[in-house]
Amino acid sequence: MADYKKIDHWQEKARKEGYPARSVYKLKEIDEKFPVFKPVSSINSGNNMRILDIGAAPGSWSLYVLRKFGARCLLSAVDLSPLSREFDKGLFDGGNFFFIQGDITSVQVRGSLFEKGPYSTIISDAAPSTTGNHTVDSTRSLAIAEEVVNYAENTLAVCGNLALKVFQGGDSAALLKRMKLIFETAKSFKPQACRGESVETYYLGLNKRKSAT
Ligand SMILES: C[S@@+](CC[C@H](N)C(=O)[O-])C[C@H]1O[C@@H](n2cnc3c(N)ncnc32)[C@H](O)[C@@H]1O
Repeated sequence: MADYKKIDHWQEKARKEGYPARSVYKLKEIDEKFPVFKPVSSINSGNNMRILDIGAAPGSWSLYVLRKFGARCLLSAVDLSPLSREFDKGLFDGGNFFFIQGDITSVQVRGSLFEKGPYSTIISDAAPSTTGNHTVDSTRSLAIAEEVVNYAENTLAVCGNLALKVFQGGDSAALLKRMKLIFETAKSFKPQACRGESVETYYLGLNKRKSAT
């Protein structure tokens, strides 16, 4: 059988476990290894986990968060595309989920998401549509990642945590340097669920510094 016909292990697992995308296992691995979902005591809305999922469609990461934390969290999510219709019910069931379809660089979207903050955690799997040209793709990915770090600077609570995707290359090292000024710890991590040939990696910012707000 030709390789392209093989359903990969993570895809099959996602299907069996009711997730719309294999990317959920990247978040799961990050969650198992790093305290990205640590609650922040300064947020007291009767509920101290306020989470923002950037680049959320089709919805696996949001579904993971809601399955794991349920009513203990308020989850806001954003994407250019709508969420997978098939998973809408699981996402919207508890009334603690807010989704906005739009571009994170738009003033309106930014305003709506800032209103729901400050957040204890921001997760971002946002990525551009790829062209196959590595320079173009990594430049676009870096621009999105820079914007996600802007969100973290503006609407992540002190001691809050960030996990974001970026394509390696270009000036991605400079972004990690910037994150080191904002967070007590900033590091890169490549989950096993990333495809072998993939240039994507995740940058983690843990414990946002007080001076960064
Ligand atoms: C790999 S997918 C995310 C998969 C998702 N984490 C899941 O588990 O279902 C990347 C997403 O980033 C979104 N995206 C890219 N640029 C964006 C932008 N400027 N604003 C909002 N979403 C964006 C894309 O529309 C795409 O749906």
